[in-house]
Amino acid sequence: MGIKIENNLFYINSKESSLIIEERGGYLLLKHLGRKIGSYHFSNTVCERDHAFSGNPTPDNRAFSLDTQRQIFGQHGLGDFRQPSIQIQNGNNAVTDFRFAESRIIKGGFELEDLPSPHSTEDAETLALVLEDSFAQLRLTLYFTAFEDSSTIASYSSLENLGGQSVVLHRDLSFMADLPAGDYDVLTLQGSYAREKTVRRHRVEQGIFKVSSNRGASGHAQTPALILCDAETTENAGQAWAVQLLYSGNFQAWVQESQLGEVRIGLGINDENFAWELPAGQTFSTPAALVTYSDQGLTKLSQESQYFIQHHILPKRFARKERPILINNWEATYFDFTREKLLDLAEEARQVGLELFVLDDGWFGNRFDDNRALGDWFVNEKKLEGGLETLIADIHAKGLKFGLWLEPEMISVESQLYKAHPDWAIQVPGRDHTYSRNQLVLDYANPQVVEHIQQVLDHLLSRYDIDYIKWDMNRNITKLGNGASYLETQMQSHKYILGLYQVIRYLTEHHPDILFESCSGGGGRNDLGMMRYFPQVWASDNSDAIARLPIQYGSSYLYPTISMGAHVSAVPNHQMNRITPLATRGHVAMMGNLGYELDLTSLSPEEKEQIAQQIAFYKKIRPIVQLGQQYRLINPESGSNEAAVQFNYEEQVLVTYVRILSVFEVMERTLKLKGLEEDAFYELQETGAVYSGAELMYAGLTMALPEGDYLSRQLHFIRKS
Ligand code: DGJ
Repeated sequence: MGIKIENNLFYINSKESSLIIEERGGYLLLKHLGRKIGSYHFSNTVCERDHAFSGNPTPDNRAFSLDTQRQIFGQHGLGDFRQPSIQIQNGNNAVTDFRFAESRIIKGGFELEDLPSPHSTEDAETLALVLEDSFAQLRLTLYFTAFEDSSTIASYSSLENLGGQSVVLHRDLSFMADLPAGDYDVLTLQGSYAREKTVRRHRVEQGIFKVSSNRGASGHAQTPALILCDAETTENAGQAWAVQLLYSGNFQAWVQESQLGEVRIGLGINDENFAWELPAGQTFSTPAALVTYSDQGLTKLSQESQYFIQHHILPKRFARKERPILINNWEATYFDFTREKLLDLAEEARQVGLELFVLDDGWFGNRFDDNRALGDWFVNEKKLEGGLETLIADIHAKGLKFGLWLEPEMISVESQLYKAHPDWAIQVPGRDHTYSRNQLVLDYANPQVVEHIQQVLDHLLSRYDIDYIKWDMNRNITKLGNGASYLETQMQSHKYILGLYQVIRYLTEHHPDILFESCSGGGGRNDLGMMRYFPQVWASDNSDAIARLPIQYGSSYLYPTISMGAHVSAVPNHQMNRITPLATRGHVAMMGNLGYELDLTSLSPEEKEQIAQQIAFYKKIRPIVQLGQQYRLINPESGSNEAAVQFNYEEQVLVTYVRILSVFEVMERTLKLKGLEEDAFYELQETGAVYSGAELMYAGLTMALPEGDYLSRQLHFIRKS
């Protein structure tokens, strides 16, 4: 376990995976990234021969080239013509030649000063590989951490300028690795606004396949991660590697198959809108990356990733704490609410057993619609007579917690903040603004802005008795141009993210009991950078239960269920206009952190009773969903008419089966469960029937749907002692 150094071999051994690196002639060569190997004897060394047009570092060996060796970071300009992982302008060129200088083993993980890092644990061990380029006077240190309880390795690198003059970074990736030639697929979580995390699977072929963001946020259309797997890998068998970035801004994640068929993966900050001036004596650190491995298929890969995120990324206080069932007023009222209306809604919420009332957009400044007031974080007394204090007190008096919506990275032109500080908006001075939802983005790269927002929010959170914050971000960044020079503007995007992390780190440290949820028009910034500070995300603005199935499916590839809010909303659904039975809306939302986002005051007594029953049931099964292990049984991929998910937690099992469209004259599905004990017996709570684990896994259960307008079923089993 942990780090082992043997002669010139470095082993980074996690629970079930190994990353093995060889140091040869100063270069770091990647020997293995996969299933754990305790002792490596150069079984799969590349056959060294003179490949035409590959660069050789020495004249006496035409067979050794960085272009054909597998590596753990890629240098620019030394004859490796694949994508580099680092590109630094030094003097009149961008060539670097880093050579190994020394290694260190460090107890525990790493803690980055201004970027999110995995929680360090005592049983973790970190390997630091120090490389130097004496000509360019630069020192590059690669860090790899192995965690005893997990098959995930964490990594980042730092670059130190040892010389007397500034250098400029044009690329500095967080992780890169070369894998042997083979048949690989690449999986990404892509999509769009309201269609986040669509699973896409492509064959890797010669050339580059890349997902990236230049939006200033990770974006709805892509996730800062990718999964590489053997072409034959399925849910239950085969090798897969997931690489993920702890970063919330512009990123790139790519896979490149070289002319010789070998495969390189790279992950880090995007080159577009990025450069970093590194003055003499200073250090630049990349964001952290995670590398997770499974040789037992994609379900196991997801379980490993979900485990790591829940135990090593989410804020510790909330990581395993069951989440309150909430009511959010957004789709119930939009901007059209009064104090009375909110209290009526809260009263209904109390009666059906809800636990948290969330006041969404529209409570502040002159905010009667979405064209104004962002930046004015003081209460709108026209809507909320008596202010927030009394509203919060009244909600608390009903036994509900209170949550509030904020969008602190934004500024409306029609706001007091803009009148006072028009230069605080991101812009190219002299050019017209580019608008989106009629709002502009505050320049979090500017320390004055960061200080102001931090103070205003600190005051708000100290003054009011708030239990939960929904932190929204409803546009992406355009017209970067606040820098005094081109180079400064190229640094603005990354500085923005550092400013954002500074604010949210401060607020979460100073208000540790508040549960923060990250939102960006749904899943527009649903990434590990945000999750390190905010334990929950609003997965999509699409609240339609059926449309949520593929979004939740995609999210499950990497993220733990406890991080994902899922709400029951009205019918016809406001985004899709679809009518789905309340039972199915409940079943789908209960596969995440259940919430409600509809006008409870307009429902019939029968509907309210049904909701009360859903909530009572969810309170029973909440630990299974939020703390359990997830299995994907049927995937709602395009063309599929069904979905099924299973959660196992201690002696309990929850299975949810959804049929998307009603069908006629088709035999019912036989669903085979997973991860049970063969010889144990499980009682189905609805009927009292008892089945052996072997029967449920190998014979399966027929998914007959109840009479009526049901499209789905939920099955709750308890293992008999
Ligand atoms: C976008 C969010 O995703 C919605 O849930 C809601 O909070 C609106 N913004 C409010 O403007």
